[in-house]
Formats: sequence, C-alpha cells, structure tokens
Amino acid sequence: MKCVDDFRLRLGSTELVPIVIGGMGVDISTPQLALTAVRMGGIGHLSDAMMMATADHYFRKHFSRDKMRANMATMGKMDKSSVHFDLGALAEATRLHVSSAMEAKRGHGLLFINLMEKLTMNAPRETMQTRMTAALDAGIDGITLAAGLNQSSFHLIQDHPRFRDAKMGIIVSSARALQIFIRRNAKLNRLPDYVIVEGPLAGGHLGFGMDWAKFDLKTIVAEVQAYLKKENLDIPLIAAGGVFTGSDAVGFLENGAAAVQVATRFTVSRECGLPEAAKQAYLNAAEDDIEVNMQSPTGYPMRMLKNTPAVGQGIRPNCEIYGYILENGKCEYIDAYEREIKLHPEKDKLSVKEKVCLCTHMRNYDVWTCGHNTYRLKDTTRRLEDGSYLLPSAEHIFRDYQFSKGHEILLPE
Ligand SMILES: Cc1cc2nc3c(=O)[nH]c(=O)nc-3n(C[C@H](O)[C@H](O)[C@H](O)COP(=O)(O)O)c2cc1C
Repeated sequence: MKCVDDFRLRLGSTELVPIVIGGMGVDISTPQLALTAVRMGGIGHLSDAMMMATADHYFRKHFSRDKMRANMATMGKMDKSSVHFDLGALAEATRLHVSSAMEAKRGHGLLFINLMEKLTMNAPRETMQTRMTAALDAGIDGITLAAGLNQSSFHLIQDHPRFRDAKMGIIVSSARALQIFIRRNAKLNRLPDYVIVEGPLAGGHLGFGMDWAKFDLKTIVAEVQAYLKKENLDIPLIAAGGVFTGSDAVGFLENGAAAVQVATRFTVSRECGLPEAAKQAYLNAAEDDIEVNMQSPTGYPMRMLKNTPAVGQGIRPNCEIYGYILENGKCEYIDAYEREIKLHPEKDKLSVKEKVCLCTHMRNYDVWTCGHNTYRLKDTTRRLEDGSYLLPSAEHIFRDYQFSKGHEILLPE
C-alpha cells in the first residue's frame, strides 16, 4: 500500500513532496501556514486578497486608512465609480508581504501566491498587473491564478524579466476553462507550469453554478487529462477539492495527478489565520451545517457554515477603505444594501439577507467559508476536557497527508 511520500512532484528541475496547501484569503493561509508546507518540502500559498489590509496588519502600515482618506467623496453614496487604488501603495504592500515571507523561507519547498482575478478593484487590468508584477519583483517562487478565466493575466506581465522563470499556474474547474486559457496564451509561447483542477467540494468560491453537486473531481480530472493528452501537452496536473486523507491523495496520484492541493484540513491548524472561535465552529460543524449559497457579491457560489456571522448583517458598504470587488463602481452588495434601504427607510439598523459585504467581513474573519468535508474535521483531532477541540499543528497535518495509509488519520498528541 502506497503513501503520498512514495510520489514526487517535478516542476522544472525542482522535486517536491506532492502536497500543495491552497491559498485561502483573506490571510487565512498566513505566511506561517504557507511556510510550513515549504519547510516540509511541498508548496505553500500566500493569499493576495485584500493585500493592503494584510500589510497594514503585519507591518503596522496605513494603506487602507490612506485609501479611505483619498476616496472620502463617495462616502455614503452608492455610486463608487471614482473609488481608486493607489497602484504604488498596492505594489508596496504586496512587496512587503511577499518579501518578508520569502526571507523567512526555509527548506526545499516553494512559496507561491494565490491571485484571484475576480478581485477587480475598480480597475481590473491595472491592479492585476500591479499585483503580479510586485509579487514577482519581491521574489515569489510562483503565482497561482484563480477565480476567473484569467485570459489576459499572462499578457499583463509578458515583459517582466521573471515571466519565464517564475512558476505560474492556473486553477480551473473544467477542461474547457483550461482550453480557453491555453488558446488565449498560444502567441506568448508560455504554457502554465502546472494546472490545478478544483472540484466542487472545495472551500471558498466555486467554479461551478448552484448545480455543483452534479460534478465530481475524478471525472473532471479525467477530462482534463484527456484534453492534455489530445493536445500533447505535458503540464503537471494538481487535483483539489475534497482530498481529506493521504489515501485520497494517493488515489489521484496513482491515476496520473502530479500532486494534490488541500486546504480544509489546515483551517483548524494552529498556524491558520482564522480566529479560535471560527476554528472551533468548523470542528463542531455537522454536515447539515454547511451550505453552498449565493451570498458572495462576486456572483460565484461560495461554501460556508450556515451560522456564518456575516450573513444577515447590514453594514454600510466600506468601498472607500476596501473596495476589492468593485467593477465600474458597482458591487452586488451595494445593490442589495440599496434595495434594503428603499424597503425600510425608517430603520436605523438594516439586515441585508441576499448578500454579504465580502471585503469587510472577510477582513474580520466573519465569513466562515469552508470545504465540504469540514464536518469531518472533528475526526482529525482530540476533544479536550473543557469540550473544545485541540488544534493540531500544520506540520502534524502535513505529515499525516504525507505518510498515512489506509485512510487512517493520525490524531495529534
Ligand atoms: C477557508 C478557505 C478559503 C479559501 N480561499 C480561497 C481563495 O482565496 N482563493 C482560492 O483560489 N481558493 C480558495 N480556497 C480553495 C483552496 O485553496 C483549495 O483549493 C480547496 O479548498 C481544496 O479543497 P479542500 O478544502 O477540500 O482540501 C479556499 C478554501 C478554504 C477552505
């Protein structure tokens, strides 16, 4: 019987333990969590989501406050067209976060950053170009493009000196999405170094509609493999979404995947950025407590705990300070908020049921997004005398994925 450690992921000349910890925004996949994967010889991801707020937190900066001051004119208004990001500040925040993590990097693994196209920031091309360029300038080992077809993303950085040497890959949920990406980039003569195929059991936003349950990862992986074979493309495929045990991972590795990307198991690790209350809520969750809903103003379905604190809140949109989802001055939360005001002009405290203000609540860790298998987390650790659960270290979870056999899960001491 094999374990994950019997396999290796090869990216160019680098040989890695084939375990990738996926990016989890906003700073749920902290540098400490990502760097554990790197130290263990795998791949860890920083998250680029809301980078200015993350840099404020780690480096005692005031990027978000300065942005708010520069955008006061739209405060209280529903048209946010004039809200803008200072690209110099955005680049500086990215460079600070990435270079500090790169300096702390130990071991043979690689540190990547997860970059979501759907964070349109009221100037999609300019901000995406700035985010990618700054991450490369700061020495990141690789960039994983996510949350979108990313048709122009490679084009935006084609003149960067590291365009061909940094590792770059994309997350897709279908062979069709990969085909579009590859066709669009054919002229650049630059294939992705890896493709992450994410199925419908993942956490965060899903690359499916509300009919996500009709799809399964194994089938999509096989379809992507068939496409790669037909096109004679030798791109390592990384399977993601619902890989809960080392043996689940071995199943994919034996069927031709080069690695697996995992996240849910690490949400309750000590190094994960979620607050203790959220981690305990994940550990206490039953299958019934988890749902896929349309609360995210990105328009993508998102999986979360039903008792997510952000749901039903009615805060005023905070686009002046955040505004990461703004597109042409709009966000679906603003629309929902405006409808609610019109319905209840007399109310002081609103409750917006359709959408959450994703920026504010992700920043405050009040959106408890999670993978489908979250209800199984309680079986991965011990219950303490006070009724709470012991939080395992990220190293413990990584090792469990790497060495366990027969679907066994080693409980932490
Ligand atoms: C709490 C949480 C937050 C996530 N946030 C992001 C994100 O910001 N960007 C992204 O591309 N994927 C995100 N994901 C998806 C993971 O990176 C990963 O691909 C997926 O969850 C793996 O499946 P698993 O959770 O079943 O192991 C998130 C997942 C979780 C659990």
